[in-house]
Amino acid sequence: MFYLKYRPRTIEELDNSQVREIIFNMLQSKNLPHAFLYIGPKGMGKTSTARIFAKSVNCLNNSYAGKSSSVEPCNRCKNCLGIDASSSADVMELDAASNRGIEEVKKLIRESIFAPMTGRYRVFIIDEAHMITHDAFNALLKTIEEPPATVIFILATTNEEKVPITIQSRCLRVHFGSATAADISRMLKRITSKEKITLPQEIHDLILQYSESSFRDAAKLLEELTIQNKLDLDEAKRYLGIRAKQNLLHLMKKSEAGESLAWIDEYIKNGGNVKYLLEDILERLRKQLLIKNGISQENTEDFGFSTKEITQLLKLFTEAYGSLRISPIPAIPLEIAVIEFYNLKQ
Ligand SMILES: Nc1ncnc2c1ncn2[C@@H]1O[C@H](COP(=O)(O)OP(=O)(O)O)[C@@H](O)[C@H]1O
Ligand SMILES: [Mg+2]
Ligand SMILES: [Zn+2]
Repeated sequence: MFYLKYRPRTIEELDNSQVREIIFNMLQSKNLPHAFLYIGPKGMGKTSTARIFAKSVNCLNNSYAGKSSSVEPCNRCKNCLGIDASSSADVMELDAASNRGIEEVKKLIRESIFAPMTGRYRVFIIDEAHMITHDAFNALLKTIEEPPATVIFILATTNEEKVPITIQSRCLRVHFGSATAADISRMLKRITSKEKITLPQEIHDLILQYSESSFRDAAKLLEELTIQNKLDLDEAKRYLGIRAKQNLLHLMKKSEAGESLAWIDEYIKNGGNVKYLLEDILERLRKQLLIKNGISQENTEDFGFSTKEITQLLKLFTEAYGSLRISPIPAIPLEIAVIEFYNLKQ
């Protein structure tokens, strides 16, 4: 998958120009804050940037090691590789969405007093930081205020209002706003040149138009169009147009079975790929399920399904996805899933 394969691993590869400059200048100055708050929607590079930062300050070959004038991580030394593989003893990632309590945070605080093992800094990355409980935040407060000199905290959040002001005011805030067209264009060029893809300018512009300022979406669209060999403008337009309408779920909520089946038929006729469609639909439904259960506060399209309906749909579409491999006609498993859902509604 392009979006994983081309996850930025150096400062230079961060296509978000604003963030790239902030991080570069900070690392260059060597005047590092004790704590950061990375703020921004999913897929904007918070985790990638946190790892690049941790690698830069701990790399054994760059200017932090006195081995070169560059602050870029080398991505080859044992510290860089350890951080990339999440096996570094000095860099810890805590996902607050699943470990939100006082015990995990206390453990982290206890850990923070130890000197780094193989690097120069211990870096604690706390993802979805807004999910941390009130008590756990309080426990963290003092450590974030005056951590040992070799400790850096990086808190990442999609929801800054839920992070207590007391914590926010002790962190250096970095905004990962939505990507500009120039930023996304830079990413597309980075990928196409490495993949040796010739991307016509009109298709490049079309991807920008349909990717809704998300690096991740743009990388996915590029991959779909390339794999399906739709680098002809008319074909690409039709394909993205149909795909972007994304109204199969809307139709299934609001219209008769016949209309949903007609939509699928048109999608297939226009060269749509059932596998991609199902992946996209499953991802959207899962998001809805997480939002409905208070696990995520992401702001995404709501199709109006109840939790029960979402669960039914997830089951049916997962089953359809599994059947794709053995079905001689890819549309069939999808059509069966759709019809069964209508049958359940009756
Ligand atoms: N600044 C960026 N430049 C290029 N690609 C990016 C950038 N930020 C995110 N991406 C793409 O989005 C994917 C998810 O990024 P990630 O760092 O996990 O974001 P977050 O933690 O904000 O959700 C990456 O694998 C990469 O393909
Ligand atoms: Mg992340
Ligand atoms: Zn290195």
